Amino acid sequence: MVKVELRKFNIVDYFRFLLLTLNKDYSRELDNTFFGYIFKGIKSLFLKKKYYKFAILVDDKFAGSIALYYNKDTNYELGFIVLRKYRNKGIATEASKKILDFGFNKLKLKKIIAITDISNKTSQRVLRKLGFKIIKENKKEKEFIWEKRK
Ligand SMILES: CC(C)(COP(=O)(O)OP(=O)(O)OC[C@H]1O[C@@H](n2cnc3c(N)ncnc32)[C@H](O)[C@@H]1OP(=O)(O)O)[C@@H](O)C(=O)NCCC(=O)NCCS
Repeated sequence: MVKVELRKFNIVDYFRFLLLTLNKDYSRELDNTFFGYIFKGIKSLFLKKKYYKFAILVDDKFAGSIALYYNKDTNYELGFIVLRKYRNKGIATEASKKILDFGFNKLKLKKIIAITDISNKTSQRVLRKLGFKIIKENKKEKEFIWEKRK
């Protein structure tokens, strides 16, 4: 059984992500472009209290990232990405359990939402395993809005 841990996202992780935007296997899976990440990185410096981002470590090695982002429309939103070689081993599920515990018990959130493309079956499977429910389908954006309450 592998050991899954979260640690605070650091500047080295940030540059890892910038590089991933240039890798065509990952660029379409990421929620931002190279310049988008630069902008987001700078913005996050000013949003520290409402942006909780962690590196996922598997047996002490960097394996992806997971975050709770504050957004005034959706409140706290869960997002995750796992490097390809670590996928389908339960890593996103384990990492999510940890960040949900942090969100519900440390931040005292009442609900956490997630957004998936309608075509992203893997992500949907992870959310179902965690007990999220679909609360809305956004046909225009081709996405589902999910929610989990404490
Ligand atoms: C989504 C993602 C984070 C999942 O990470 P992971 O560590 O592989 O997830 P887990 O191993 O915990 O769970 C994956 C589940 O999806 C299932 N799965 C994999 N491919 C699937 C598919 N095509 N259709 C349905 N289920 C699928 C796996 O079997 C597993 O379920 P199981 O435990 O019941 O067998 C990873 O695929 C990823 O980084 N994708 C790109 C980024 C992304 O889409 N992020 C989410 C944006 S909302």
